[in-house]
Amino acid sequence: MYPLAEGLFAPRNQWYIAAWSHEVTRQPMERWIVNQPVAFYRTEDGEAVAVGGRCPHRHFPLGKSRVEGDHIECLYHGITFDRTGRCVKIPSQVHVPNVCRIPAYPLVEKWQWLWIWPGDPDKADPSLIPDHHVLGLTDPDYAAVGGPYYSVPGRYTLMHDNLLDLSHLGFLHRSTIASDGIAEAQEVRDEGPGWLRSARNMANVSCPPLIAKLLQHQGRVDRAFGMKWHLPALHAGFDHFHEVAPEFGTGRLIGGFRVYHAITPGKTNDAHYFFALARTFARDDVALGEAFINGLRATLDEDMFATREIEAMLGAHAQMPQEILLKGDTHCVRGRRMLEQMIRAEQAPGAG
Ligand code: FES
Ligand SMILES: [Fe+2]
Repeated sequence: MYPLAEGLFAPRNQWYIAAWSHEVTRQPMERWIVNQPVAFYRTEDGEAVAVGGRCPHRHFPLGKSRVEGDHIECLYHGITFDRTGRCVKIPSQVHVPNVCRIPAYPLVEKWQWLWIWPGDPDKADPSLIPDHHVLGLTDPDYAAVGGPYYSVPGRYTLMHDNLLDLSHLGFLHRSTIASDGIAEAQEVRDEGPGWLRSARNMANVSCPPLIAKLLQHQGRVDRAFGMKWHLPALHAGFDHFHEVAPEFGTGRLIGGFRVYHAITPGKTNDAHYFFALARTFARDDVALGEAFINGLRATLDEDMFATREIEAMLGAHAQMPQEILLKGDTHCVRGRRMLEQMIRAEQAPGAG
């Protein structure tokens, strides 16, 4: 499926972010993860649970049902399942057939995120989740702030295309986080097993409007930014602003940020997006952290707008239009190929 090869959608034997911690409560919540309906809720002692979201009786959504104790009870005819997916009650009969069960998904709560493994539970190894301390999310040298949840109005791969081509900052985001010269700046790329990274150093460029406004900086900046994609779920990057100096990056630090973009496939043509931001300065200034998140909402809305419009454009064509690839698309295309390799590895004979 575009922009991947025909027939390929998403890897399933991987960790993805399913929700912000605060989204999952005693009230069940439905969210589709890699084309599977999932019901989320918390047990009486507060532990988050993810089970299959389709009742095997008449297919009523369990994420729109009710929680009773530590169990989930289908709202339609009352069939009840425990957190392992086992049926514990069928109100209309005593016998519980073996086929009456739902999947249970491995779920790990880290920082403010709930990570889900939508594939084979036997393969779920929590040590494969990117290290949150190394990322800066739980490191006291950074003040990390969780942002909003977005239901993405387009296939998840459009968001990866977006994040793998940061030249769009200079155009789509010209009123918030753009500097001049981003598209022309040299991109340094590297990669390793399960990750892909790119970075740009831009000397003496315009200060992004949002930075100028919130940090009261006037004048130009030396800007360094880049992003590392921890495939397939999380892009974690940095964005540093220094006063212009003869030697790049040695001027006074105006602001140092880490940015986090988590993308999770939903249904075929939608996705989930979780954004967070960390900063190295004014770490105790809670209001400033909120001001940055609020200021960046306009930027995130612009990405949603672009994704929605592209998805609509693709959907309106009976035959998939051909795209042109530019020299600057090297990174984006490499990312697509790595994603395809992950999917194909799961489909290979013997991969289970
Ligand atoms: S549809 Fe769930 S109990 Fe009937
Ligand atoms: Fe963007």
